Formats: sequence, C-alpha cells, structure tokens
Amino acid sequence: MIKKNKKFVPILVLDFGSQTTQLILRRIRDLGVYCEVTSHHNIIKKIEEFQPKGIIFSGGPSSAFDKFSPKVDSKVFKAKIPILGICYGMQMLCVQLKGKVKKTRKREFGKAHIKLLNKSPIFKGIIKLNSSTQVWMSHGDEVVKVPVGFDVIARSDNNIAAMSHKKKKIYGVQFHPEVIHTLKGKQLIRNFILDICKIKREWKINNFLKEQLNVIKNKVEKNKVICGLSGGVDSSVVAALINKAIGNQLTCIFVDHGLLRKDEEKEVLLNFKKYTDCKIIHVNARKIFLKKLQGVKDPERKRKIIGKEFIKIFEIEAKKIKNAKFLAQGTLYPDVIESKKIQGSKLKVIKSHHNVGGLPKKLNLKLLEPLRELFKDEVRTLGKELGLPNDIIMRHPFPGPGLAIRIPGEITAKKINILKKVDHIYINELKKHNLYSKIWQAFCVLLPIKSVGVMGDSRSYELTVSVRAITSKDGMTAEVFYFSEKFIQSLVGKIVGQVKGVNRVLYDITSKPPATIEWE
Ligand code: XMP
Repeated sequence: MIKKNKKFVPILVLDFGSQTTQLILRRIRDLGVYCEVTSHHNIIKKIEEFQPKGIIFSGGPSSAFDKFSPKVDSKVFKAKIPILGICYGMQMLCVQLKGKVKKTRKREFGKAHIKLLNKSPIFKGIIKLNSSTQVWMSHGDEVVKVPVGFDVIARSDNNIAAMSHKKKKIYGVQFHPEVIHTLKGKQLIRNFILDICKIKREWKINNFLKEQLNVIKNKVEKNKVICGLSGGVDSSVVAALINKAIGNQLTCIFVDHGLLRKDEEKEVLLNFKKYTDCKIIHVNARKIFLKKLQGVKDPERKRKIIGKEFIKIFEIEAKKIKNAKFLAQGTLYPDVIESKKIQGSKLKVIKSHHNVGGLPKKLNLKLLEPLRELFKDEVRTLGKELGLPNDIIMRHPFPGPGLAIRIPGEITAKKINILKKVDHIYINELKKHNLYSKIWQAFCVLLPIKSVGVMGDSRSYELTVSVRAITSKDGMTAEVFYFSEKFIQSLVGKIVGQVKGVNRVLYDITSKPPATIEWE
C-alpha cells in the first residue's frame, strides 16, 4: 500500500559510514537539487514516504562479503529507481546481486586513472572511449566479477572502476566522484541526477523560506519560543527567521561568557535591535566563567566547564519566561548527518563541542530547529534573504567556548584581553586587504610560551601568538590559506608593535587533518 506522500525528497543518500557522505550531499545541493541522507534501514518504507527519483549508496568501512556488513533490502533493486553505488556502495550492490567482491592485494588510496571501456550515460562529457581521467580511490576490497546483466564500463590499472546494468539504471563506481581529486566527479554526479534520474533543479532558498515561515507559525501557534543567541551566523539566522514568522512571541537569551571577540557583545545587541523586534535578555556572566576556569589547563575540562555553566545560566533565565513551549536551536544538516551515522560505527570524540544548541533537556521545551535541513552556505543565503547584513552573514565561524579554546594553558583576564586586542588587529587587517571573505576562518591563538625579544634597546620577555587562516567548505577538513610575505610581515609588525605582552608571532601552516582548526 502506498502511503500518502508527506514530503518529496528527489534523492536519498544511504549512508554506510563513509567520511565523505556529506560531500555527496553537497554536490547534489550545489546542483539545485534537494536531497537527504538516511540509513539503509526500512528503505522500502522510505521510498514510499519520500518518493525519491534516485538513490545513492555511499562508501563505508565495511567489507561487502562480510556476513554482518550492512546490506540494503534487495527489493530496492526492483523498485525501478536509478541507483548509484559508490565504493562500498558498489561492492555491496555487487554482492547482493550475486557478483563477487574480494580483498585487494594492496589497498588503493589516492589519485588513480581510469579508462573507459564501454560507453555509458554516467560518463557523458567526462571521457571518450578508451581514454582516461583522474579519480580518487580509497578502498581495500574490489569487485572481481560483476553480477549477471552488468557490464564493466571502466577499469583502473588495478581493478574494475565502474559497472552498470545493461537495462536497469543501476551504476557502481569504485572511486569517489564527490571528492575534488576526481577531476570530473561533479559532472558524473550531474549526469546521474539530471540525465539519468531526470530530476529538475528546483531547490531554492526562497521557497524554503516561505515554507518554513508557515511551518513555524503552524507549529508554534500562540505559544512562546526561547532562542539562545551567540552572535554567530546560525543563531542569528534562526532568530531572524522565527522573529519574521511569529514576531515578539520569540525571546532571545544571550549569555555573555566574556570569551567573545573585542566588542562583540555590543555588536550583537545593536544588530539585534536593528534587524529584529524580538526581546533580548543579556546576561553578563563574565565573572562567573572566569572564576570557574581559574587554574584549568586541560582543553576538555575547559569545554566541559563552559558547557555546564552555560546550561545552568541559560536554564535560570529560560525558567523566568512564562508560557514558553519551544526552544529554538541553530542545528544544521551536518549535525543531523552525524547523529544519523549508521549503527555500530564507532566515532571517536575528538572534542566535546559546545554551542548554544543541544542544551537544556531538563527545561521540558519542544525543539524548534528550522535550519536542520541546511548546510552553512545555505544558511548564509537564507540570512541574506531575511535582510541580515553581510557583517552577520559572512562572519567567520566562532566556537561556542570562544577565546577559552584559543588560550592553551591557564586562562586569565589579562590573557583574554591580550588575545582580544591581537585578534582585533588581525581581523581588521584581513578586512582592509579584502582577504576576510576569501578565508573560511581566521583567528589568533595566545600560546603559553614566553620568549626573549628586543624592543628598541631593551630586552623583552613576552608571550607568543600564532595566527591561523584556513579555507574550508564545512569545517570538516581545512586547507591553509597562504598570505603574501608582505602581508604577514606587516601584520607581525602591527601585532608586536601595538599589543603589550606579545613579542613573537608564529604562522600556523597545518591543514586539517592532521591538525584540527582550533588548537583545543
Ligand atoms: P575543529 O577545531 O574541531 O573545528 O576542527 C571545526 C569547526 O568547529 C568550530 N568549533 C566549535 N563550534 N562549538 C561550536 O559551536 C564548539 O565547541 C566548537 N569547537 C570547534 C571551529 O571553530 C571550526 O569552525
């Protein structure tokens, strides 16, 4: 029995635990096509509910020939919906359709070249027959025999690189088209989505905005909503969106922990008065946080203390708001994807993230998460659509625990002050030289290292600062942004010359991985 369609999702991406699943979604959204990630469980029910026109199986760490590895309900192959299996996704569909997969003799990782052996719509505009293109591989297993009814359409030096069913629109690629090192990867995804699945490019932020305004109004009715405000892009857009939908039924709580950038609290309050008409409760809790952090050096303890104190203060304030029924949060789609990771995949905690979302469960408020389907750049476009200024929308990401995790070692009021001044100079210089918008995130770190210097004729013994600038799409990986020698030299001069307490500047040129973006 076909259920009543609640929501149309043109492309479903089934996640089998790959590190690059998010990138698949990004590529599809960039085409102007809506898509969602989901687990492989109950796929037939999901097809009935969302009526997808195409399904993608992601890669993953399992071995398809392993009896206990995740498998999809085989009915999906008879559903007459085009399928693209990527890496593990290809191997899994191969095993399920009675082909053969085995361990490779040598794990293949990195750039490789594939040659087209059979013409196929999935490779349209990518390579001609018998010519080759660069792709990106990461696998320890390989397809050694394609299932009955399939053709091998491309090979690398080592193995079968792509296959497709002769009649059904089922495709498998061993490489990762979602990764930039697959030079024509975007085109391959485009071929699958637009030509093979025949999906129209209809995903526009303006439609999303209209739809969400109605969703919020209908959900909230005459009740009150509380929103934790941090001054960052996500919470600002959430607040502006909800404010547009329900006016002053929204109250924002801004817990000022004293670890924000220079004058940021003033800017947050000013901007909110200017761009919304919701109520704001400003809690100055700087002294409390500083006291709690006294003597604490361990990064995780710092994060835990800040998170806990934040919840405590937020709860006290939230309880003062009578008849509040909803808590608004700036949860984004990457957070949703993380929480939907396939069961059994063990993700190591690198850092216990804290932000204004994900907090007070005890408050008994229902969650309102209007951005949970969006990626960061889509949130920025939505902010623009809502009339927020570039200053807010294009602001670099800033972590919930603020400057605390940019001061390795003990935090003191003096150090916070020094870092605020250094950061201010740095960000202003970036803006002055039109570099700010080219960089995804830039900040300074105040290191617990003193060194000897010479200022004029005197000896100095002061602290060290590290400057960091990275480019990224979503913060999951990051590349270093390289400054010109002239810029960096002038910046060093300004920092050391203007900020008392600093006599040495380092330039961090580590990408993520192996480093993380923040130092703690
Ligand atoms: P890492 O350091 O993990 O950072 O590479 C990735 C991105 O997340 C930001 N970040 C946080 N954001 N609460 C947040 O809201 C946090 O606790 C937190 N820790 C890191 C970081 O600034 C970067 O953009």
